[in-house]
Order: sequence, then structure tokens, then C-alpha cells
Amino acid sequence: MPKMSVPKKIPQPMRPSGLAGRVFGHLMEWLSSPNYHWVIEQLRPVKPQSYLEIGFGTGRLAQLAAERFLPARIYGVDPSPLMLRTALKKLGRYDGKTALHLRLGDDTLIRQWPDGPFDAIVAAHSWQFWSNPVATLMRIRSLLSPGGRFVMIVRSHISDDVSKWIPNPITMGGNELDGLREALKAAGLVILHDEKLSTGSQGIVAACA
Ligand SMILES: C[S@@+](CC[C@H](N)C(=O)[O-])C[C@H]1O[C@@H](n2cnc3c(N)ncnc32)[C@H](O)[C@@H]1O
Repeated sequence: MPKMSVPKKIPQPMRPSGLAGRVFGHLMEWLSSPNYHWVIEQLRPVKPQSYLEIGFGTGRLAQLAAERFLPARIYGVDPSPLMLRTALKKLGRYDGKTALHLRLGDDTLIRQWPDGPFDAIVAAHSWQFWSNPVATLMRIRSLLSPGGRFVMIVRSHISDDVSKWIPNPITMGGNELDGLREALKAAGLVILHDEKLSTGSQGIVAACA
């Protein structure tokens, strides 16, 4: 397994912060818009009433889910205080119609919180930052409702530079997508859709096996 060298400064995609983080957030929303719409399309048959997002960023995708499905509950975790503030501002107006529970924390937080089941669990461009992806996928499996969907967007290209510090050992391993597919299967999830999106990212939809 390649050795990880931790960068001195945490890169913006991993922990958006400060002015650069705000700019990054706007850029990310703009560039990822086709991904968000693809995710919403995948969730349409489920009409989720409970939604959990891992690494919600600015909250734009959760906002689209709130508008489209009016879920009773939205939960989310993200380790960036800037992203938490941004998403709370964006999603605050749905509070009341939808119970909103966003917390500061990374994917490991979902091992204790929240309780399931969830009709939809979503992770867009956060997977590569999970340090123990196998444990998180197993937890996701235990949180999914029987007809629920786990929707992932996975960045397709990791530069040599990034691969020196990226925390996810499956991403680091070289053949990320095949490694992810195997890990999903091992966690008791079955892949329903697996396609390259117009943005170049990979979209994957999984459900309980
Ligand atoms: C590239 S951004 C994507 C944000 C959002 N999902 C989107 O597609 O617009 C990655 C996000 O994941 C968050 N993040 C970083 N490490 C994480 C982890 N271990 N677990 C969950 N989220 C994480 C970052 O704070 C950031 O908001």
C-alpha cells in the first residue's frame, strides 16, 4: 500500500475554509450542478422521506432534495465549519416543514449518530476523504431502509500530487472504482446503476442486497 504524506495545509476540497473556501463552494456548486440533478433523478422512484448526506458541502444538493421530495427528516455531517454555516443558512428555511439535523463531523460520526432507517443516503465527492471506508460503508448498509438507495458521486481523476495525501486507502490503492465496487459488495450492498456522468465523475446507486 502506498505511503501517505499528510499535507501541511488541508486542501480546500477536503476542508473548505476562509475566503478561498467560499469561492471554492460557489465553484463547486456550479461545476457539480449536473451531478446534483443526476442524484435527484436517481432518488425520484424512492421519494425519500428521510435523507442523510455525508459531506454536504454548501448544502445545495440537500436543498434540491428538500424542494423536490419534502422529506420529513434531513440529516448530514460535514467536518468544515464554513460548510456547516453555509448549509444551515441555505436549508434553514425548510426547517419546520422538514426537521433539519446537520452536524459538524466527518463520516466516522455516522457510526454513532443518527439512528436510521434512511430512504436515501448520499455522498457526493466526499468518499475519497474517508479514512476507513469499509467501516463507513458497513454503517451505511445498516442505516439504509429496505427499499432505500445509497447514491455516490466519485471523482474520476486523482492527480499524483493528491494521491500522496488522500486519506482513503481504496482511492490510494490505484484502482479506485473497482475497489469501491468490491467494498460495496462486501458491505452487503448491491449496485443498481454505475455510470460515467457528463462531468466525468462516476455515479453509483446501491441498495441493500
Ligand atoms: C469536494 S466537497 C463536495 C461537497 C458536496 N458534496 C458537493 O458535491 O457539492 C467535499 C466535502 O466533503 C467534506 N469532507 C471532507 N472530509 C470528509 C469526511 N471524512 N467525511 C465527510 N465529509 C467530508 C468537506 O468538508 C467538503 O464539504
